[in-house]
Amino acid sequence: MLDNFVSVAELERQASFCNKVRELVLGKGMLAFVITLGCQQNEADSERIRGILTSVGYTLTDDEAIADIIIVNTCAIREHAEKRALSIIGRYKHNKARNPNTVIGVCGCMSAQEHRSEQLKHSYHYVDFAIGTASLHRLPELIYNALNKGKRTFLLDEEKPQIAEGIPVVRESGHRAWVSIMYGCNNFCTYCIVPYVRGRERSRMPSDIINEVRELARDGYRDITLLGQNVNSYGKDLDGEYDIAYLLHEISKIDGDFWIHLMTSHPKDASDRLIEALSLKCCANHFHLPLQSGSSEMLRKMNRHYDIEKYLGIIDKLKKASPDIALTTDIIVGFPGESDEDFERTLEVVKRVEYDSVYTFIFSTRKGTPAYSMPNQIPDEIKKARFERLNDLQNDISRRKNEAMIGKIVRVLVDGKSKNNEKIYTSRTESNKIVHFESQEDYTGKFINIKITRADTFALYGEI
Ligand code: SAH
Ligand code: SF4
Ligand code: F3S
Repeated sequence: MLDNFVSVAELERQASFCNKVRELVLGKGMLAFVITLGCQQNEADSERIRGILTSVGYTLTDDEAIADIIIVNTCAIREHAEKRALSIIGRYKHNKARNPNTVIGVCGCMSAQEHRSEQLKHSYHYVDFAIGTASLHRLPELIYNALNKGKRTFLLDEEKPQIAEGIPVVRESGHRAWVSIMYGCNNFCTYCIVPYVRGRERSRMPSDIINEVRELARDGYRDITLLGQNVNSYGKDLDGEYDIAYLLHEISKIDGDFWIHLMTSHPKDASDRLIEALSLKCCANHFHLPLQSGSSEMLRKMNRHYDIEKYLGIIDKLKKASPDIALTTDIIVGFPGESDEDFERTLEVVKRVEYDSVYTFIFSTRKGTPAYSMPNQIPDEIKKARFERLNDLQNDISRRKNEAMIGKIVRVLVDGKSKNNEKIYTSRTESNKIVHFESQEDYTGKFINIKITRADTFALYGEI
């Protein structure tokens, strides 16, 4: 079990690099810019990156043009994500040309792949370092290499990556927080790159997680999302009887008024114990259960380890336990071999479950995954047409469900002033529905009750 964790000796080695970097950085007004291109895990990693950068003496900036260090935290989930990352990295060539002392680093899921690391090393000469997702704790060493002698470092993750506890975090929000409870994935869904870029599942110790949640509650955080690629298999690698339900029960004993969200759950491991635990007071009345496809045949080809009966059985249990639970999901259209009938089955499930929202993705082939070389790849036009049909169907459902909220009073957590209108505040319900309202007073970071007066497909509107 101890080998699940980065050794104390290695952490001390990094601490000494922190000191060396501080000597080069402190007192010089050096600025750091971090750009996040991926999912919630990626955002949580960026918060650790910001934590490390500030602890070695940088001040954070939102202006990339004046930054002394730029870190691009990449994603590889679809081809588009990698193209975007490479194009963003490309534009920092100019920053380096303007100021040759600018340090440019790449981390995240894209740079965790050997061929991308090589590409960055050989074709992006202005990039000082690239690392995998499980090597973030070595950032001080890489920054020191770059600052000290301009040495470039390209690091891939270890075969068996470990958890580094104790990395400082600078959180983006003062009221919503991510807490990684585990890293990696063992599932190898045939379309997905994540297991190749984030390694095998490894769980943090329950005490570390519970202490972190306790501190967040004490600091006034109101919405805490427990993160993992499949939080339902939390604890399987730990000695002892730990699972996600155990964690939720322990967290429910913590004083404070906060919502707990889970992101994300795999249907194959959604246990009755978990469904029962979701009714604990701290758990948000919301569950995200990725469907991926409504066709059992597609699910088999995707290596998802459940069929549609099992999936709908879980949905029925969730609805029985809490009739007004908000349900959300992920769906992929255009997986290799997906026939019109397979796609119709997906539409049928969406109609039957009536999700509150659906994240729809067009299948993107990822080199190195089994689906890359599967026969019967679906032409782009068909994928796009299915994507649009599914979105149209879900938009109708979302609008109908949102309209049914008119007249109701909902509890929301206020995020702050709307970007487009100074007088309007933006908030979210516990099921993450966006609610706009007018207010003279600033309730940012607080729970308040809003009476819904108007609704459309993507948002609700109301008054305090
Ligand atoms: N671990 C999470 C998923 C993380 S990726 C889970 O299993 O729920 C988020 C979503 O991206 C997935 O649920 C899937 O719908 C989508 N996705 C993953 N790989 C993809 C690919 N190659 N093409 C299109 N969508 C993909
Ligand atoms: Fe990817 Fe499947 Fe793991 Fe989710 S569970 S990260 S979709 S391999
Ligand atoms: Fe997330 Fe993208 Fe990696 S979705 S896990 S940042 S590949």
